[in-house]
Amino acid sequence: MNVVVTGVQFNEIQTEVLIVGTYKNPENTKDWSELVAFYGSSLEKWLKAGDVSINRKKLTKLPTLQEGKLQRIFFVGLGDRKTLTQDELRDIFGTIGKELVASKTTNVSIWLDSFTNEEIDIEDATYLAAEGIGLGLYQVPNYKTTSNTTDYYLDLVELLTNSDEQEILSYFEIGQVYAEAVNEARTLVNMPPNVLTATKMAEYAKELAETYDFEYEELGKAEMEELGMGAILAVNQGSTEEPKLMVMKYRANDEWSDVVGLVGKGITYDTGGYSIKTKDGMVGMKGDMGGAAAVLGAMRIIGETRPNKNVIAVIASTDNMISGNAFKPDDVITSYSGKTIEILNTDAEGRLVLADSVSYAKQQGANYIVDIATLTGGVIVALGKDKTGALSNDDAFFETFKEATEETGEFVWRMPLTESDKKRIRKSDVADLNNSPGRDGHMIFGGGFVGEFVENTPWIHLDIAGTSDAGSAYDLGPKGGTGAMVRSLATLVERMSLEEIEE
Ligand code: BES
Ligand code: MN
Ligand code: ZN
Repeated sequence: MNVVVTGVQFNEIQTEVLIVGTYKNPENTKDWSELVAFYGSSLEKWLKAGDVSINRKKLTKLPTLQEGKLQRIFFVGLGDRKTLTQDELRDIFGTIGKELVASKTTNVSIWLDSFTNEEIDIEDATYLAAEGIGLGLYQVPNYKTTSNTTDYYLDLVELLTNSDEQEILSYFEIGQVYAEAVNEARTLVNMPPNVLTATKMAEYAKELAETYDFEYEELGKAEMEELGMGAILAVNQGSTEEPKLMVMKYRANDEWSDVVGLVGKGITYDTGGYSIKTKDGMVGMKGDMGGAAAVLGAMRIIGETRPNKNVIAVIASTDNMISGNAFKPDDVITSYSGKTIEILNTDAEGRLVLADSVSYAKQQGANYIVDIATLTGGVIVALGKDKTGALSNDDAFFETFKEATEETGEFVWRMPLTESDKKRIRKSDVADLNNSPGRDGHMIFGGGFVGEFVENTPWIHLDIAGTSDAGSAYDLGPKGGTGAMVRSLATLVERMSLEEIEE
């Protein structure tokens, strides 16, 4: 995609479509009068009559009547100038991205200044345009022999503003990086489980590491056996696919200290194992690697933006299958940490692979840990499909993350983890822990189990079972994988790197 910045001169536009943000009370009356002069006074009449709607998100398409490249103007309603928020503007740009796909528009101009207000300066508007449109452009890859996704590609974006060209370009570029990383994560989530095996995911991770010069290590079954990673091995036991533990290190400093660990659940398919899911409950479990996808997406952003913070990513991948070899309820296993676990439910497999991953991240030097997983149906019951559930053992660390999510517009809600919850997780006649204390409030048991392996390291657990895939299309994307928390994880690392500079 080619991106250029030009001044606000309507008769010199080099694209077929111009996007104009239309507030109820446009401030830039000088520029608007230029647009009216360019278009003709009919525009003013239509605006007054409401034929060009100022209602938020409402799109009005008008043809241009002049000679020249520009064929159409898309007016997008922004409503009252005083109340439009950054999150709403991101969504609005998402709908524009979708509209570009639907109308197969391959080149477009955006009048950036028409989107600003008190809360949204030109840099914000530029960033949000790149991110929102980039997310809105996403289409789910499919395997239809008569494909209905075209080879559509947006190849020219002309940004109309009188602000500094280099600055505008750099903000736009960061927005693009964020959107592309989310879209990559979405594609991983959308991939069928026979295609995206643990081995395939590891190939993807290795390539990512090579692209961005991360140190890369991969543990297969033999290495896991050698290290005694009994928890991930137990989940993999019924499978014919090799399990993989992927480790990436981004070294911002020569010294490997003050390291942030990102740990993702990468179950490529979750049948439930012998605690088998219902036939309806199983459909969609190709997305049980959403946590892994989020970590891979965040690492892509980190590779591009190169924040001043050491990061280790650990991703555990396997499917959860049934066979004569599979693990089963009543088994007692020994994790990499040495802690023993009584299996009460083979469908509580995510916390098992995360247990060994978290221990490995710590052993490799992680000083902070964020684990992310499609861990429990319980989080959906508690918070719905649009909120990520969280646990944490560190108020300040969680607060930093909360601020990151407020910037990205990805809602997160922290749940309590009490001593009595921990007691339930530690209750077993035969082992140190049990993997399924019950269904009451089980989002907390799932995350709390992972916490047993984190111990005193500052930690945040994110349960994205609800948010990782969307049941229907929304402003920023289609039905399917959402790339939830990719942007927030990267923003967290970014914020942590800035905190350090301030000290
Ligand atoms: N992968 C599932 C959680 C899940 C459910 C993700 C729905 C996305 C949508 C997880 O491995 C699981 O099976 N959890 C069980 C835990 C139970 C056995 C304690 C659940 O939520 O029922
Ligand atoms: Mn499960
Ligand atoms: Zn699962």
